[in-house]
Amino acid sequence: MKSLNISSIKKTNHSKYNQFRNNSDLVSEIIQLKKEKNAVLLAHYYQSPEIQEIADYLGDSLYLAQCAQKIDADIIVIAGVHFMAETAKIINPSKMVLLPDLEAGCSLADSCPPNDFKKFIKNHPKTVVVTYINCSAEIKALSDIVCTSSNAEKIINSIPKNKSILFAPDKNLGNYLIKKTGRDMILWDGACIVHEAFSLDRIIALAKKYPKAKFIAHPESTSPVLNIANFIGSTSALLKYIKTDSSNSYIVATESGIIHQMQKSCPDKTFIPAPVKDESCACSECAYMKLNTLKKLHNCLLNESPQINLNERLINKSRKSIDRMLALS
Ligand code: 13P
Ligand code: SF4
Repeated sequence: MKSLNISSIKKTNHSKYNQFRNNSDLVSEIIQLKKEKNAVLLAHYYQSPEIQEIADYLGDSLYLAQCAQKIDADIIVIAGVHFMAETAKIINPSKMVLLPDLEAGCSLADSCPPNDFKKFIKNHPKTVVVTYINCSAEIKALSDIVCTSSNAEKIINSIPKNKSILFAPDKNLGNYLIKKTGRDMILWDGACIVHEAFSLDRIIALAKKYPKAKFIAHPESTSPVLNIANFIGSTSALLKYIKTDSSNSYIVATESGIIHQMQKSCPDKTFIPAPVKDESCACSECAYMKLNTLKKLHNCLLNESPQINLNERLINKSRKSIDRMLALS
């Protein structure tokens, strides 16, 4: 593998988990293929534990974008969803970018079709268009600046006070940012199916059962849920919080994949996934994220497919809004 010129980004330490690797032929083959093909694996915290364990870089949406910018390997494999793979391709277009399952989409990205968004912008002229990174390349191309849940507040605060802001596609993150920054924003009506599924009543009942547990939530959750949270933050902020906070137990309102890293960081603490409205559903798992499997990861490396391909015009148009975000992050 070529040496990586990433001074500010630490590579995941797998030494403790060699045993896990040795137990699986598939895992060994994936690692071998990565080496042979000079490929790196970037994984989001919402991936299954077995994928998280073999990732070269593991993190939230911002971290994965920052890694994609600096990686000089020949192939970037994204164990995440489609918009993350598109973002990696836009940032580093000369690399081959693979996504183990092209169906791994995102309800937020789907909630914002480019033609409808174009009309929305036209109906709100002279606004600064800020879009959450969870959107398609076409939407990024229509945006002035992109943000993630880690840097959204900073991005909004960087916009001059005399400018009106249009924010898309997540209305829940948008409402949270309105409260945090005091800025009035025009919001697109999109949401994440995973974070909208949390049940306020069931969270309150669980909190009564575990009175010492703190309730922590991702800002894609609805306002009533966020209103009762002890701490609100992106996946990386939630992870950082539980490492330094004095409590021993937490009810966690975000995709349950993050709990693997929380448990690894703090093995003596207890992490309880926040309950969802539908008691028969594992809705705190993102069905899109969980489409990626070790088998698909192996196949995509072996066959160098499916690849993310975007035309040059779209790459150039969408890159500006991502570059502006990266410069501010
Ligand atoms: P972050 O990675 O910014 O925490 O966002 C979570 C998410 O929904 C990714 O799809
Ligand atoms: Fe999209 Fe929600 Fe899944 Fe993240 S958790 S990829 S926002 S559907």
